[in-house]
Amino acid sequence: MAKVVFRSSGKTLEDLNEIKSFLEQYDILYDNWGTERLPEDLKKDYNVTQEMQEAIIKAYEKELNELKEKKGYVTEDIVVLSEKTPNLEDLLEKFKKEHHHVDDEVRFVVDGSGVFPIKIDGEIVDIYVEEGDLIVVPAGARHWFELDEQRKIKCIRVFKTPEGWEAIYEEECKAE
Ligand SMILES: [Fe+2]
Repeated sequence: MAKVVFRSSGKTLEDLNEIKSFLEQYDILYDNWGTERLPEDLKKDYNVTQEMQEAIIKAYEKELNELKEKKGYVTEDIVVLSEKTPNLEDLLEKFKKEHHHVDDEVRFVVDGSGVFPIKIDGEIVDIYVEEGDLIVVPAGARHWFELDEQRKIKCIRVFKTPEGWEAIYEEECKAE
């Protein structure tokens, strides 16, 4: 279920529409496309073949095309993190560091779950995502990513260029 938690006050939003309109003010797009349309193996199997990747993307073609047209994204792929991922701990350490990107970070969660803490008006807001959820972290927004106790996530990633979502870690935004 959709959930947003303000770290300092503990205030929690759980209503999808309330979350959407709150985040919209900060250009953070949050939505739920559901996963009912996906057969179980496309969700649960983390050894994603090229064929499976294409089938997952095909299942969301309409939504993806609308999003790409609206935001200027050009391509997509599938990304997974799980206990099977080599160097999982190293990767998680890296994702846990505050950063931003030159382009938007777009994730649609096919399976598993995680948290995107994002700095909004200097406050840390935890945006929880799970299967069926779409999140667009806008270019420049300081954020990081953590897995939860499920320890796995499988996402469609949408982007303009691979270079655009390289993480920028320097804390140059502190002066703001
Ligand atoms: Fe990021």
